[in-house]
Amino acid sequence: MRLDKLLADSGFGTRSVVRKKVLHGKVTVNGAVIRDASCKVAPGDEVTCYGEPVEVLSGKTYYYLLLDKPDEVLTAMEDPRLPCVGELIESRYKNRGVSPVGRLDYHTTGLLLLTNDGELSHRLTSPSYNVPKTYRVSWTGGPLTGKDVAKASEGITLTDTAAPEHLKPCEIILESEDTARLILREGKTHEVRRIMAHFGKEVVSLRRISLGSLSLDESSLPGDIRDLTKDEISALHNDVGILH
Ligand code: URA
Repeated sequence: MRLDKLLADSGFGTRSVVRKKVLHGKVTVNGAVIRDASCKVAPGDEVTCYGEPVEVLSGKTYYYLLLDKPDEVLTAMEDPRLPCVGELIESRYKNRGVSPVGRLDYHTTGLLLLTNDGELSHRLTSPSYNVPKTYRVSWTGGPLTGKDVAKASEGITLTDTAAPEHLKPCEIILESEDTARLILREGKTHEVRRIMAHFGKEVVSLRRISLGSLSLDESSLPGDIRDLTKDEISALHNDVGILH
C-alpha cells in the first residue's frame, strides 16, 4: 500500500495533507525519514507520523463500535448545522468507512452500532431478517390498556401518512403506568413514536437498549463509546446468519 493512502486511511488527514507531512519529514518508515509519499509499505514495516506509530494492516479491517447515542445528536457522519454522531468517533474510523447501522431520532438515546461491515449492517436493518430491537419508552397520555398491547402484538396499521402502513407485530412489556419496553422487528421511520401516537400517547423519552443479541451495558451513559468484543461480533453475525 502507498504511504499516503495508509496515512490518510489512518486518520492523519486527506491525501494532500498527508503528502505535505511526508514532504516536511514528519513520517518515518523503519526508522528512516521518508519524503516520498508514493513509497510502498507492507505489514511488518514500522511507520510513524509525528512520532506516533501507524498500524500497517493487510486487507480490509472491520470495525464495530457501540455508541450510547446522546440526546440532541443527529444519526449522521456529518452535518453542517447540528451535532452528529460522526463527531463522537475517532477520524481513523471514518476514513475506513465506519457508519451508523440504521438510525435513531435526534431525541432518541441509546444503542447505536457503527461499522464498516456492510453485509452485517444490511442484514441488521433489513426487515426480512427479523432482528429484534428493544426500546425503553416513557410517555404522557395515560396508561396503555391490555387491548392496546394485544393490538400491537397482532400488528397495527398506521394511518398518519397519505398511505396506510401495516406494521409487523410489536411486543409491548408494560413496566408501569407510563413506561414500557417495546420490541420491534423492523425499523420504520419514527416507528415507536408513531405506535404510541396511534394509542393517543406522546413519547417523553425513548432509549434503545438492545439490537439482536447486543445490549447496552447496565452502567452505560449517553456518550459512552467502545469497541465490541469478539464474542459480541460473532453473536451479531450469528443473529443474521453470517457464518465464519
Ligand atoms: N422509533 C422511533 O420512533 N424513534 C427512534 O429513534 C427509533 C425507533
